[in-house]
Amino acid sequence: MTEKTIRFSGDIALPAIGQGTWYMGESAGQRRAEVTALRAGIDLGLTLVDTAEMYADGGAEEVVGEALQGLRDRAFLVSKVYPWNAGGKKAIAACEASLHRLKTDYLDLYLLHWRGGYSLAETVEVMETLVDQGKIRRWGVSNLDYDDMQELMQVAGGDVCATNQVLYHLASRGIEYSLLPWCQQQHMPVMAYCPLAQAGRLRSGLLNNDVVNKVAYAHRASAAQILLAWVISHQGVMAIPKASSIKHVEENAAALAITLSAEERASLDAAFPAPNRKTPLDVV
Ligand SMILES: NC(=O)c1ccc[n+]([C@@H]2O[C@H](COP(=O)([O-])OP(=O)(O)OC[C@H]3O[C@@H](n4cnc5c(N)ncnc54)[C@H](OP(=O)(O)O)[C@@H]3O)[C@@H](O)[C@H]2O)c1
Repeated sequence: MTEKTIRFSGDIALPAIGQGTWYMGESAGQRRAEVTALRAGIDLGLTLVDTAEMYADGGAEEVVGEALQGLRDRAFLVSKVYPWNAGGKKAIAACEASLHRLKTDYLDLYLLHWRGGYSLAETVEVMETLVDQGKIRRWGVSNLDYDDMQELMQVAGGDVCATNQVLYHLASRGIEYSLLPWCQQQHMPVMAYCPLAQAGRLRSGLLNNDVVNKVAYAHRASAAQILLAWVISHQGVMAIPKASSIKHVEENAAALAITLSAEERASLDAAFPAPNRKTPLDVV
């Protein structure tokens, strides 16, 4: 059984499943479980941890900071800047505040959370300043569609963008029309957020679907594991499910070893076809 890896610039190879943190840090009563789940995930190889200044208004970064105590060197830490902080001195201050909450002195990857009022040129410029200052190792974007990426490539320095993080799951396949093929051609990794469709909340019935369950049964796996295996079966795509229990983290880590057959992929394709025309980028 081969575990899939994804390559980031700087010759970094990471397991194709990482850990999300949206909704962590919202409740004091959940904090211990969240810290424990993240630490267990790193032990199981889910070394990319994705967070943002937005999540719980910095609270998720504090949970991650606690979870990474003694483990920082083993993690690939990703955070995101609000669009209205993504330029000039505001970006430097936002990054420093994230580093403080995360109890670290560098991010492996810093993302523009979505496009806002700053031009892409202003954002690229400040991202490169943060790289020069050693506060971030690399930068990328999130929620940028095909046309935005073409625009980014026209900006000086825009071509070193390390990733695009976008919504992608079995029942939301719009990126397959033009954005994903373009990223693959550029060898730019894509980070799939909401890979479990928020446990089916974004698409009811996805975790109880007969076709998904049939594939799951054949692998002695859960429906969630099949959704993750399907996402990472695409070249250059990694998944960042959020899990706040050890059981879910263990399941998600085990999904790295599931390889879907061509027939299984065809049955999932037939049940959840990709659109055959450009559709607006799905976001939450
Ligand atoms: N860039 C952006 O704009 C953006 C937007 C959305 C999300 N994100 C990132 O992407 C991450 C993932 O997205 P998401 O959290 O929205 O949704 P998700 O990962 O698709 O779903 C999370 C839900 O799935 C459950 N879950 C996890 N593992 C499971 C398993 N093995 N079996 C059954 N249920 C399982 C979790 O429950 P428990 O928590 O109870 O384990 C939670 O309720 C976020 O946490 C965030 O880091 C980025």
